[in-house]
Order: sequence, then C-alpha cells, then structure tokens
Amino acid sequence: MSKSFFIETYGCQMNVADSELVTGLLQQEGYTPTDDIDTADAIFVNTCAIREHAEEKVHSRLGTFQKIKQRRPDVIIGVLGCMAQNLKNDLLENKPYVDVILGPDSYRHLPDILQRNQQQDHVVDTRLSRFEVYDDLFPSRQEGINAWISIMRGCDKFCTFCIVPFTRGRERSRSVDSIVAEARQAVAEGFVEITLLGQNVNSYRHGNAAFPELLEAVAAVPGLRRLRYTSPHPQDVTEELIRVMAANPVVCNSIHFPLQSGSDRILKRMNRTYTRKHFLDLVQRMRDLIPEIGITTDIIVGFPGETEADFEDTLSVMETVKFDSAYTFKYSPRPYTKAADYTDQVPEEVKSRRLETLIAVQKRHTLEQNLKMVGKVVDVLVEKESKKSDRQWAGRTDNNKWVMFDKGTARIRDLVPVRITAATGVVLHGELQEG
Ligand code: SAH
Ligand code: SF4
Ligand code: F3S
Repeated sequence: MSKSFFIETYGCQMNVADSELVTGLLQQEGYTPTDDIDTADAIFVNTCAIREHAEEKVHSRLGTFQKIKQRRPDVIIGVLGCMAQNLKNDLLENKPYVDVILGPDSYRHLPDILQRNQQQDHVVDTRLSRFEVYDDLFPSRQEGINAWISIMRGCDKFCTFCIVPFTRGRERSRSVDSIVAEARQAVAEGFVEITLLGQNVNSYRHGNAAFPELLEAVAAVPGLRRLRYTSPHPQDVTEELIRVMAANPVVCNSIHFPLQSGSDRILKRMNRTYTRKHFLDLVQRMRDLIPEIGITTDIIVGFPGETEADFEDTLSVMETVKFDSAYTFKYSPRPYTKAADYTDQVPEEVKSRRLETLIAVQKRHTLEQNLKMVGKVVDVLVEKESKKSDRQWAGRTDNNKWVMFDKGTARIRDLVPVRITAATGVVLHGELQEG
C-alpha cells in the first residue's frame, strides 16, 4: 500500500512554493498527500525563521507532533525549511522525536531518506547549495487561480536585520526556458494567474536575461491572464522594469515595494542600499508611468538605534506615498545577523507603541486609497465565493484589491468588468457590468 504524508507550511510564499515542490517530488515516488495528520505515515513541517514569533509557532506545533510520535512510534517526523538550518543542534539534542531535518536546498534527497529511514536514526542535511534551483522538478499545486513559480533562490543582500541569507544561502536563478515551461504547464492545468517568486525577485539573472526580459517571456504564454511578482528590492527596480510593467497588459499594475524604514540613517544601518529620496523617486516614476498602480510595503519599527525622529521619517514617507496596504513588524533580533549584536536595541514598549501608531496611519491610508476606486469600472478576476455570502463572488483588481459583488452570470476564472460602488478599509464592493 502506498505511504501517505502530511505537510504543513509556515512563512512566506517561497515556502508555500517549496512545499508544493516537495509534494510533487514525493508523489512522483508513489507517496500520497493526506490532510489527516493522525493517519499520515510521515509528517512534515516547512518552517520559517524570519522573526522569533515565527519560530515559536513551529515549536508549539512540534509539541503536538511529539505526542503523535508517542502514540505511533513508526511515524516519521520531518522539519524542513528555514528553521532547519538554524536549529539542527537544538532539534537533535532536545527533540529526539524529529527524524529528518532538511534545509531548503536538500529536498531532492527526501524520497531516498524516507526509504532508508526505517533503519536509520536521524538524518540531517542543512547544507546550502550554490546551484540548486530544482529546475527539473515540477511542483504539485492545489487547484486554484494563481500559480506560484519560484524563479530564483537565496539572497545576497544581507540586510542587517534579516536571517534569510543564512537560511537560504546564495542567490541563484533558474533558466528562462524552464520557467516558461513551468508557466505553460500551469496554464494548461487551468491556472490563469502566475506570481513569480524570489526573495529578491528582480535581481533575477540567468545568462543574458534579466528580470524585465523574463517578465515579458512569461507574459507571452498563451492563455495567461495575469502576471504578478514578489518581492522586488528597490535597489533593483529599473526604468526598464517600470516600462515593461506599463506596456504589458498581462503584467499587473501592482507592486509590493518594501520600504523597511523612512530614515536614511536607519536604512544605512539596515544595509538597504537605497535612500529615502531614491525610494520616493521610484514611487513617483511608477505612478507617472502607471497611474493606477497599487503599492504595498513592509515596514519594521524599533530597529536598533531608531529614534523618535527616525520613526517620524518613516511616518512622513507613509504620508507622502499613501501605500495601499502595509505589513508592519516589530524588529526581532535574529541569530547570525549584524543588527542582533547592535548595543542600542529599542525597548519592547517603544516598539509596541510605534507599531500601534503605524498601524493606525496605514489603516487611514488603505481606506483613502480604496475610496479612490469608487465609481470606477475595473476588470476583476473572479477567484472564489465570498466568505460573507454565497450569492457573491470575491475577486481581485489588477492593482490587487479584493472586490465583492453579486454573482450574476460571471463564473470563476472570468475576467469581468465591475463598477466599484463602495469601499471599506479592507475590501471594495461592486456591481457586475453585464452585457
Ligand atoms: N526579501 C524581502 C523580504 C522578505 S522577509 C525584501 O527584501 O523585501 C519579509 C519581511 O519581513 C521583510 O520585508 C521585513 O520587513 C520583515 N523582517 C525581516 N527580518 C525581520 C526581523 N528581524 N524583524 C522584524 N521584521 C523582519
Ligand atoms: Fe532579507 Fe534583505 Fe534579502 Fe530581503 S533583501 S531577503 S530583507 S536580506
Ligand atoms: Fe521565513 Fe524562510 Fe520565507 S525565514 S519568510 S520562510 S525565506
């Protein structure tokens, strides 16, 4: 009888895509995925180490897995992803019920390891590769609208707060051909939207091809309605990239554009390699060429040494840009990173207060930006039934806002014109323009 496996994923979309890769790999070897953790022959958790809180969540899940292992000693427990690298010693010493620990570049060995594991004690492989991009493996995706396609792995930027360069290793890109082949397959499977993924998606480079050429090549795949990407680094946003976005109707008018801080002094200490002015100039250029563009961001408060004046600088960039939405974080010191050793750490209560202020400001801006959409007729890609009402669809606009509207004759996967009639700080409401 074929063996079954259960996989649970934490962290960013790269991890989601990696779990799909692992699923594809195991299915190829005859394993079947299951949602039932209590009967699975193998249980995997794909982990995230970006902030302390992310790790805490995984630790608490591992507690549950330990209980399962006590009941069923034959089950295989595997820790994958970004925490594996970090915690292998701790896991080995304190968590003997974990059988397999694999870092993000070692998934190819998984089927082999599962074969051998009956006899063996623990398998640990957290080596990082300069070459592994899983070019030849196709992930097994959940049915849906959007397919995530990983185009590069690792990161060489070494922002001083960030653990990713240590957990995912050096930057490397896949070939254009293999990415386009995967995109074609995804469209053939029924996906109508693709999101290209990378920790620094726009520092993509393979041979002579840079990111804008790759975007054009993927956008040209027949049947693809929408193309998105995440996350770009401001340093690598070029005039050419903005022009390709503006000119190509398949490439969505939306960008996740991580600010991190609005203070030049803090940006420098973060090693972000751009200034506040450069960031604002890029926003202006994008809005000049793509007036409808939706801009979202990531912001960290309480980075070591952040003064009240530095924080005000961040607020003032927010007031200038008025992001459509923002992921906001309290700085969390991470192992191996430079900033964790800085002696001027900001007290927790200051971080909390700044975060609250930031969230309130962003809430106001999101509402303001959403209200600007009212009265417009925009194309919405129908994605799923609204959670609030089975008479309504939920879909996204080109600039990445959710819209709820009465179903009418529209079907899932249709790209339909919708008149926006109302906006909240979270979603838009609209009316389908039939006929
Ligand atoms: N490569 C992406 C970031 C991926 S991590 C980029 O450069 O934008 C996602 C977000 O987590 C980051 O943008 C940052 O805002 C946040 N983050 C990363 N490390 C953090 C830390 N140590 N403490 C708090 N937030 C952090
Ligand atoms: Fe981390 Fe910076 Fe790399 Fe983003 S660019 S993954 S924040 S080191
Ligand atoms: Fe987390 Fe690793 Fe992504 S640390 S945010 S899962 S790259």
